[in-house]
Amino acid sequence: MYIPSISSYSILFSLPLITQNLGALSPFFSLATNGSDDTPPGCSITFAQILSRHGARFPTSGNAARIQTALAKAQVALRNSSLSLPSNYDFLTNFTYILGEDNLTHFGQQELVNSGLKFFDRYGALGNVSAPFVRASESARVIESAQNFTQGFNAAASNRSATTKLVPANSILVIPKVETSNNTLKVETCNAFENDTPFDTIGDDQDQIWTNIFAAPITARLNADLPGANLNVNDTVAIMDMCPFETVATPNGAISPFCSLFIDDEWESYEFLQDLDKYFGNGPGNGLGPTQGVGWVNELLARLTNTAVVDHTSTNTALDSSNSTFPLGLALYADFSHDTQLTSIFSALGLFNSTVVKGGLNATDRNSSKTSGYTSFQTVPFSARAYVEKMLCNGTQEEMVRILVNDAVQPLEFCGGDEYGRCTLSNFVESQEYAKSGGEWTEC
Ligand SMILES: *[C@@H]1O[C@H](CO)[C@@H](O)[C@H](O)[C@H]1NC(C)=O
Ligand SMILES: *[C@@H]1O[C@H](CO)[C@@H](O)[C@H](O)[C@H]1NC(C)=O
Ligand SMILES: *[C@@H]1O[C@H](CO)[C@@H](O)[C@H](O)[C@H]1NC(C)=O
Ligand SMILES: *[C@@H]1O[C@H](CO)[C@@H](O)[C@H](O)[C@H]1NC(C)=O
Ligand SMILES: *[C@@H]1O[C@H](CO)[C@@H](O)[C@H](O)[C@H]1NC(C)=O
Ligand SMILES: *[C@@H]1O[C@H](CO)[C@@H](O)[C@H](O)[C@H]1NC(C)=O
Ligand SMILES: *[C@@H]1O[C@H](CO)[C@@H](O)[C@H](O)[C@H]1NC(C)=O
Ligand SMILES: *[C@@H]1O[C@H](CO)[C@@H](O)[C@H](O)[C@H]1NC(C)=O
Ligand SMILES: *[C@@H]1O[C@H](CO)[C@@H](O)[C@H](O)[C@H]1NC(C)=O
Ligand SMILES: *[C@@H]1O[C@H](CO)[C@@H](O)[C@H](O)[C@H]1NC(C)=O
Ligand SMILES: *[C@@H]1O[C@H](CO)[C@@H](O)[C@H](O)[C@H]1NC(C)=O
Ligand SMILES: *[C@@H]1O[C@H](CO)[C@@H](O)[C@H](O)[C@H]1NC(C)=O
Repeated sequence: MYIPSISSYSILFSLPLITQNLGALSPFFSLATNGSDDTPPGCSITFAQILSRHGARFPTSGNAARIQTALAKAQVALRNSSLSLPSNYDFLTNFTYILGEDNLTHFGQQELVNSGLKFFDRYGALGNVSAPFVRASESARVIESAQNFTQGFNAAASNRSATTKLVPANSILVIPKVETSNNTLKVETCNAFENDTPFDTIGDDQDQIWTNIFAAPITARLNADLPGANLNVNDTVAIMDMCPFETVATPNGAISPFCSLFIDDEWESYEFLQDLDKYFGNGPGNGLGPTQGVGWVNELLARLTNTAVVDHTSTNTALDSSNSTFPLGLALYADFSHDTQLTSIFSALGLFNSTVVKGGLNATDRNSSKTSGYTSFQTVPFSARAYVEKMLCNGTQEEMVRILVNDAVQPLEFCGGDEYGRCTLSNFVESQEYAKSGGEWTEC
């Protein structure tokens, strides 16, 4: 395992601008500016919860099949073409598809090792009583992400601290992913969300509206360059998907030649497709999107207030009522999940409420992501992470709460967030009425 020095992890994999327009397939990118993620002056952190997406992965099996179909069409036509094409097509003639499926890439593993190092750097001082308590939803890439995070945390702790407790081997609590089993890190028990219109289709429908708009002229260009390829708009998106997937399949995130087949403006459209997918698939654009995050928010409230979980949605009562599987009173917690679930949880917390007020996303208007302030690159890139912090500050008796998403301090306007994004613990707990009241779970 490569352990970078503390000062280098944030610039490791500092990637070109294009990688910030790849939506949920973007490599992790810190959104902190000028020390904005530092602990506010006069405060000391007393509690930290990280909620993390898994690291960069290979395409899922369904996506891999679509990509290979589209590539085959393009390559047959390219090899048969008598046109003199721009040199950015050269690599494609003899290109061979060799990506894996579903699991983390090496780059993705390293993202999580770095995240564990950084967690130690930020919060390791809280680990001298107990190590972080780690949970992962059952999925090879999520479990491995928790392992790689733990490896990074433990490596940094062993190198740099005599008092920090290491996360014991095999201590990661894996929450079963079975359709009938409650799991706040991968909710699959809200039947209406899984099976009923519009909840189960609205994300794909909005994606297709925008795909038909933005990919049409790109498809026409590709088909003109590659006579006989007969690519459709879905093929075009599949070929664009190769840019992020090949990039994160290299050890250091070397930019794939597929990226250069498209111009910057087309990547902005691709980003917007990914934004729609999350906003309407699991976010505020889906009537039951935030509902999926309620169980986890209620677990967070239990951890923040050191009281038993009160929830009637997706929590697993068997796990959450035992102090070996849901210990209270610890200072450090780490949970690992997926982009869909993080999107739901952020929505349940109300972190995206201001984007709704600003009009939300509109599948025929790419500018709506800018006007509302919602992008999937900023919320759920590979290895995305939120930190929920409690802190004690000079001049106040009560603990304060702050939330950072990919190092960007969230304003928490709904509980009186101050210039540092802080609310008092009681105001924060009070603001979470949506989760406490069950977040429309009765509609499930
Ligand atoms: C990530 O964890 C897996 C499983 O423990 C391990 O095989 C792999 O080497 C780790 N990756 C890195 C980059 O440390
Ligand atoms: C960064 O923060 C420091 C300290 O608050 C301040 O003096 C400086 O002007 C800031 N720089 C920028 C570019 O915002
Ligand atoms: C709080 O104030 C005291 C007295 O001024 C000071 O010694 C201490 O370092 C401050 N704590 C923090 C976390 O800044
Ligand atoms: C593709 O491979 C063939 C056979 O090895 C070679 O002759 C040709 O130059 C290659 N084409 C490109 C564009 O690299
Ligand atoms: C993903 O990793 C798991 C655990 O290492 C392994 O069992 C599985 O075969 C891998 N899946 C693929 C598609 O490579
Ligand atoms: C644990 O860490 C805290 C904060 O760094 C420190 O005040 C305390 O003395 C440490 N306790 C032990 C047992 O090392
Ligand atoms: C190959 O190109 C020729 C001439 O451009 C065309 O007539 C033929 O249909 C093409 N074959 C394939 C398989 O695309
Ligand atoms: C693209 O895929 C969607 C979803 O599978 C499908 O409804 C649509 O017909 C496809 N479009 C084309 C042009 O094949
Ligand atoms: C799962 O959630 C449902 C709905 O809230 C609840 O009725 C049930 O008791 C839960 N089961 C377990 C094992 O937690
Ligand atoms: C769990 O609860 C039991 C019974 O109350 C107690 O004896 C034990 O110390 C607790 N364990 C932890 C890890 O808090
Ligand atoms: C966010 O908006 C929803 C819908 O209006 C509301 O139910 C919820 O209470 C808001 N969340 C917060 C934390 O204000
Ligand atoms: C969405 O944007 C289009 C412009 O592309 C506009 O005509 C339409 O009214 C907008 N829809 C909503 C619901 O705002």
